[in-house]
Amino acid sequence: HAADAHRTDLMTITRYVLNEQSKHPESRGDFTILLSHIVLGCKFVCTAVNKAGLAKLIGLAGETNVQGEEQKKLDVLSNEVFIKALVSSGRTCILVSEEDEEATFVEPPNRGKYCVVFDPLDGSSNIDCGVSIGTIFGIYAIEDGEEPKIEDVLQPGKNMVAAGYCMYGSSCTLVLSTGSGVNGFTLDPSLGEFILTHPDIKIPKKGKIYSVNEGNAKNWDTPTAKYVEKCKFPQDGSPAKSLRYIGSMVADVHRTLLYGGIFLYPADKKSPNGKLRVLYEVFPMSYLMEQAGGQSFTGKGRALDLLPNKIHERSPIFLGSFDDVEEIKALYAAEE
Ligand code: AHG
Ligand code: MN
Ligand code: MN
Ligand code: MN
Repeated sequence: HAADAHRTDLMTITRYVLNEQSKHPESRGDFTILLSHIVLGCKFVCTAVNKAGLAKLIGLAGETNVQGEEQKKLDVLSNEVFIKALVSSGRTCILVSEEDEEATFVEPPNRGKYCVVFDPLDGSSNIDCGVSIGTIFGIYAIEDGEEPKIEDVLQPGKNMVAAGYCMYGSSCTLVLSTGSGVNGFTLDPSLGEFILTHPDIKIPKKGKIYSVNEGNAKNWDTPTAKYVEKCKFPQDGSPAKSLRYIGSMVADVHRTLLYGGIFLYPADKKSPNGKLRVLYEVFPMSYLMEQAGGQSFTGKGRALDLLPNKIHERSPIFLGSFDDVEEIKALYAAEE
C-alpha cells in the first residue's frame, strides 16, 4: 500500500537532500553537511523548548539585543547552539543572527561557501506560556574561492539557494525549500530523525483565514485598513474570513502554508517599516511561499526583490495564498 510505504521506507531529511544533490553532478555534499548541522541545532532547541519549564530556561536572560528587545534565556541559548553548529560544519563563511548586532565572519580553517541568515528563536514572547515557537533560516552561497564580504548577505531573497523553518509545536516540523518546491519533515523523537511527512507542499490558491496583530489597527495605512475591513465585511457576497493570530511568525506562516490565507505584518505610523526583519524573517518565509505557489508582497513590490542595505533591516510583509495577496496588491496599486 502506498499509504503504508513511508512507514517502512523512511525518507529522512538527509536522504532527501542527498537525492536532491545527486541531480547536480558538481555537488560535493557540502550542502548536505551544512543542513545536517542546521538539523542538529533544531533538534537541540526542540529538546530545550520541551523541557524549558523544568530546566529553568523560562524567563529573561537580562540582556537587550540590537533590536531593543529583551532577550529570553532560550533566545541566547538557541543563538549559541546555532552559531557553534554552523561554524563547526566547516561549510559557512558569514552568519547573520537576529541576536547578534554584527555578522560573524568564519575564520579560514572552518570556512566554507555558505552564508546563513537566521532567527534562532522566533516568537520568543510565547515561550513562557508554552505556545509554538520556531527557528527560521535562509542560505546564500558565494563563488568558490571568493573572499567573503558583507554584500554577500545583503542580497535580494530571490538569490537564496535554500530557506526553511523548524516549528517547535505539538510536533517538531521542519519545512525546507532548496529551490524546487517545499517539503515538510516531522521529527520522530524515538528515531531522532526528521521524516518526510509533507511532500511537495502547495498553498491553497485562496484561503479563509487572515492573520494580523489587529491591536495596531489605529496606526495602519489605508490599503491595510481597507483589506482587513474586506476580510470582516466582504461586499461581494463571499463569506467573511476567520482571524487567527498566534504572534509567532513561524506558527502563523506554517498554518497559512497548510490551510491557506494571508499573514500580514504591515507598516504602521509607529513603525513605518513594519516589525519583521528582511534577511531572516521576511526572505525565508517569502521564498517558501513562492515555492509553494503563493506570493509575498511588501506594499511596494515582490518581497524577494528587496535589496537590503543593513543586516537587521525591516520591511512590511503580506504573504500567503496567491489570490489573497492579489487583493492586497490591488488595494496598494489603487492608492498610487
Ligand atoms: P522574535 O521573537 O524572533 O523577536 O520575532 C517576533 C515576531 C514574530 O514572531 C511575530 O510574527 C511578531 O514578532 C509578532 O509581533 P507582535 O507581537 O507585534 O504582533
Ligand atoms: Mn526577538
Ligand atoms: Mn522572529
Ligand atoms: Mn527571534
